[in-house]
Amino acid sequence: MSESGLRLGSVAKPPPRSSFGAFVCFCFFVLTAAGNPNATYQATMNINVKSSIHQLLLTVDDTTVVNVTSTEEDTKDSAIFSPWVLSSGLYIMVLKPTDGSLKFKRVVMTTMFGLSQEIPSLLLSLAPGNILVLAVKNDAALNLSPTARDLLKSLGVKSAHALRFRNNLAWVGTVGGRTWGEAVTPDIGTKGNYGDLWSSPIHLDLQIPRRPEEPPCFPVDDLREAARASFCDRYEGYGTLCSCENPAPLSYHPPKLEGSTIEDVPLVIVAGNRATYLYRTLVTVLRQPGGHTQRILVYVHGHHQEVADLLDLLQVPFEENLDVGDFKVEGKIAEHYRKSLVAAFSRFPEAPKAILLEEDLLVAPDFFSFFSQTAWLLDHDSTLWCVSAWNDLSSLHVAHDPSQLRRVETLPGLGWMLTRRLAEELLLAWHTKKKNQDWDIWARGPFIIAGRECVVPDVSRTFHIGLSGAHNPGLIHAAFFSAKPMPADSNVKLKDVDRLTFEKYEEDIYRLLQDDPLFLDTKLHPCDEHYLPRNITDKPVVIFIEMITRVDYFAWKYLARCLGVWDQDIRAMHRGLFWFYFYETQVMVIGYPYSDYSFHKPPEVEVLRVANQKDIEKLNLVAPSNRYRFRRPELESLAPFMDTSLPNLPP
Ligand SMILES: *[C@@H]1O[C@H](CO)[C@@H](O)[C@H](O)[C@H]1NC(C)=O
Ligand SMILES: *[C@@H]1O[C@H](CO)[C@@H](O)[C@H](O)[C@H]1NC(C)=O
Ligand SMILES: *[C@@H]1O[C@H](CO)[C@@H](O)[C@H](O)[C@H]1NC(C)=O
Repeated sequence: MSESGLRLGSVAKPPPRSSFGAFVCFCFFVLTAAGNPNATYQATMNINVKSSIHQLLLTVDDTTVVNVTSTEEDTKDSAIFSPWVLSSGLYIMVLKPTDGSLKFKRVVMTTMFGLSQEIPSLLLSLAPGNILVLAVKNDAALNLSPTARDLLKSLGVKSAHALRFRNNLAWVGTVGGRTWGEAVTPDIGTKGNYGDLWSSPIHLDLQIPRRPEEPPCFPVDDLREAARASFCDRYEGYGTLCSCENPAPLSYHPPKLEGSTIEDVPLVIVAGNRATYLYRTLVTVLRQPGGHTQRILVYVHGHHQEVADLLDLLQVPFEENLDVGDFKVEGKIAEHYRKSLVAAFSRFPEAPKAILLEEDLLVAPDFFSFFSQTAWLLDHDSTLWCVSAWNDLSSLHVAHDPSQLRRVETLPGLGWMLTRRLAEELLLAWHTKKKNQDWDIWARGPFIIAGRECVVPDVSRTFHIGLSGAHNPGLIHAAFFSAKPMPADSNVKLKDVDRLTFEKYEEDIYRLLQDDPLFLDTKLHPCDEHYLPRNITDKPVVIFIEMITRVDYFAWKYLARCLGVWDQDIRAMHRGLFWFYFYETQVMVIGYPYSDYSFHKPPEVEVLRVANQKDIEKLNLVAPSNRYRFRRPELESLAPFMDTSLPNLPP
């Protein structure tokens, strides 16, 4: 293998501050660090890594740094999220090169499909110069995507492409620098896997040079830069925030949003303990027109030192919700959301509306502009109760026109604006929510939503990056979230915003349906690639699917699966109509006979019916491979988590 394989290419450069070449002698030296003037250090440190089915152990100079264990019993637990499964995967651990202390640890649960999508962004967020330790517990290969393997290879992991199911691996190297050691079990399995067998445990034992403590590269006579140095000394995973060569700014000076109608509308970011996600979200907010910190409140669930330190560093206002109560996961999130609503309108007592955003959602550069152009709708149409930046259907082959808006009968959340009046109404009704029920499922219930709708864009204005979270969303993420594009333009003029009010929206739909659309009448299976023409641009294509009642979504699930769009429920509809683009073609799917628009069906046109549950189950494997089937290569660079590998199932 060539030397270039040892570096992380253009992404992370070699450590700028020191070179290990200085440590050829095996000598002792005394360090006069501020903390302990008497500390004496050896010139090397001993790193020991164990990779095996039931234990992942990392020790530095005989001190245990990471020790994850499971038992034989755990493997018999059939739960999808058993402790064994949850602790299985590729461990990414970062040590300080000076003293070997742990700065960062994440496990990517590559036994589950979709989660390795996060590997590139994780590895690329590590600051050069630190010691990176990669190790497998149980298995890391099953759903390790080719993209992730390529990146590991470029980092110096020689076995990145050869690693097979249940092989063990331990690798140590310097981020942006050299490999210190790698050990992997040879692949002795037939057909590349071991079935019920595991390869032998691995112990990698290394002696590596220790880097001397050095003054930080940031100008420490500046108070904020000194705070940055201290932050970067403790934490990892912030990309250029901690880069010496081209550090990200600590203050942003976003331009004014021209003609803003939402100057008095705050942005409340609902946060937990995922500081590296929060940082990335904040950067997208702070650098766009209207993204000034005076309008922002981060409302944090509990006290987390890293989150608090990050927000102090960036001087972003925040409040901690310290009374977190006794709830299960869903209830805990719901209660935190409730308090976020309270905080939004009490911290900003003059605000007529508020925008809520979660900590793991990147926003498009016209996020505030989008809300500024649509805010007035909430005051003029009582059948609307929110504007949301998120469209459930909007993936690469479906998202089409950034200026287009639609109405949906749900609360999409994921970056949304509501009025003070609605917040008061929700808070009053909150007692009708069961203690541990998801708040959004409760709010979408017929008694709360009461027939009201939200305005959503054809192309989403938020992008979900949270792969470590309450619901382990790897599969859902790969199937539905990863290929969502966002507009790159900070100034998209939305089209026909005034047509989004109830009557005008209906007028437009009736006009389209009466104006000689193409009623799809085909004997092809909906999963056939010729089922729906992709390039009809002069008229909408109308499809009727069976929908007896509002909640009957068998046929929708079937069709949506075949077309590679959100199929988990009917949340994206408006009065029984699902309206979206499929490549270039405008599609109107009408639930027959439930929908108000059913009477447009010409007698000879067939209704798509699904006889039984089994037909849908046959398509269960289709959803995760959607991204493999519905490509828009010209747009894929806009979807950073896009990964097009096919899922692997355990043998
Ligand atoms: C450093 O060593 C001196 C002399 O051995 C001792 O008096 C002092 O307490 C030590 N300081 C620390 C911080 O350990
Ligand atoms: C690791 O954890 C296990 C289980 O808690 C414990 O039995 C073992 O002694 C620990 N090993 C080390 C080296 O800390
Ligand atoms: C639409 O696509 C079909 C193939 O699916 C092709 O034959 C036809 O020429 C295309 N029409 C236009 C207008 O691009």
